[in-house]
Amino acid sequence: MKSHLTRRSFLAATGAALAAPLVVPSTVFGALAPSNRIHIGCIGTGNQGTQDMQAFLQEADARVLAVCDVNRASAGYRSADQFLGRDPAQKLVEKFYAEKSPTGAYRGCDSYTDFREVLARPDIDAVAIVVPDQWHAVMTVMAARAGKDIYCEKPLSLTVEDGRAMVEAVRRTGVVLQTGSHERSHRNARFACELVRSGRIGRLKRIQAVVGSWNKFGPTGAWTPMPVPEGFDYETWLGPAPWQPYHKDRCLYSFRFILDYSGGQTTNYGAHSLDLAQWGNDADRTGPVEFEDAGSTWPTDGLYTVAKTVHFRARYANGVELECITRNDNVSCRFEGTEGWVEYGYGGFLTEPASLKTSTIGPNEVHLYESANHFRNFLDCIKTRQEPAAPVEIGHRSATVCHLGNIAMQLKRKLRWDPEAEQFIGDDEANRMLGRAKRAPWHL
Ligand SMILES: NC(=O)c1ccc[n+]([C@@H]2O[C@H](COP(=O)([O-])OP(=O)(O)OC[C@H]3O[C@@H](n4cnc5c(N)ncnc54)[C@H](O)[C@@H]3O)[C@@H](O)[C@H]2O)c1
Repeated sequence: MKSHLTRRSFLAATGAALAAPLVVPSTVFGALAPSNRIHIGCIGTGNQGTQDMQAFLQEADARVLAVCDVNRASAGYRSADQFLGRDPAQKLVEKFYAEKSPTGAYRGCDSYTDFREVLARPDIDAVAIVVPDQWHAVMTVMAARAGKDIYCEKPLSLTVEDGRAMVEAVRRTGVVLQTGSHERSHRNARFACELVRSGRIGRLKRIQAVVGSWNKFGPTGAWTPMPVPEGFDYETWLGPAPWQPYHKDRCLYSFRFILDYSGGQTTNYGAHSLDLAQWGNDADRTGPVEFEDAGSTWPTDGLYTVAKTVHFRARYANGVELECITRNDNVSCRFEGTEGWVEYGYGGFLTEPASLKTSTIGPNEVHLYESANHFRNFLDCIKTRQEPAAPVEIGHRSATVCHLGNIAMQLKRKLRWDPEAEQFIGDDEANRMLGRAKRAPWHL
């Protein structure tokens, strides 16, 4: 089993200067000696990567030593005013630590284009993988082999096969992996699932998981390729995905609307709402046994290829019905039982009866994994080697529900699923959609 302490002890014993900050004495950061800090490399510093990096900066026992992105710096992410990439990320990290330094100066965050250079650094303990989904599996498997603990953004995988390979790699190497499904560390999300699993709404009958609609629109009809901008390594951005000509609406943030890199809003939002469905139904290490399209719509031309409106139904072995639907409101997941309901969403938390909301879970009721901060929980688990709030198997199973929903919506027929074997029953065409070829030289 990989040991954080072993690697750090080794660094101390060899007197490796790599791990020490250049100008900041440990006292500045309180009682936390630099040798006890967890050294992090942030791979992908775009829309979410910059957020995750800032969350790690807030933790006094973590130190961001490296940032990596194939984009040097540009606008054109989720919103026009987001200017992101590896140069802004490096500046942000060094400014943050400089402001905490008595000298007001700090150097010690290196910037990379090639993530393999980050993985090769023995002084990096953990990596945040916050890149488009076509990269999650290859990077995770390589990071696990390099002995790095991993914070990998949701959806954990691009395909079911990718997810299974990630689970196996994490198990084999003993690294800690936290999936970025941060709802697992939200008090009300946990409480909602505890109420459901404690039988407070009677017998659970039905779950509705909501996903948001498209929030960006690429070119429709025929579109014209564009020159790759300077400072952007497009070949590496594509990585294991099939080669396609560059268009600005293909890459930064927008990748989530193209099936080569994402499962669309089914996986983008579903990695949260369907993850809660799995948690509340005590099914987060398994999954439904039947999937069926319920009227999804798909684009017929243009650059974007993911479901335009998501709508599928699934059924668990315990009889619970699951519906996943595109809707723009504050609901993420609604649980309906024989005696009431619980609704958890971005805007709040509602129950029927209303008294459930202010009740407490008794000592003999179901208490779920408690984490108040997803990043803190990851760092704590790096130290204790315990399973984090959203471990790899759970991340994989939740992503699987999203992928199977997508396959059912594409094939427009009822599919039966064996969650043990992770295979469709009697449907070769559907089974072929569980994995995808990777463009050389990338492989698992
Ligand atoms: N937890 C959440 O709520 C949440 C929210 C948003 C996004 N995400 C997830 O974060 C991931 C990234 O999404 P985003 O919105 O930040 O996308 P983004 O396009 O804004 O950022 C991705 C960054 O990765 C870089 N990149 C691509 N390939 C790379 C490679 N091989 N090496 C280094 N850098 C590479 C890109 O240049 C880009 O800067 C996705 O998996 C997404 O689902 C999670």
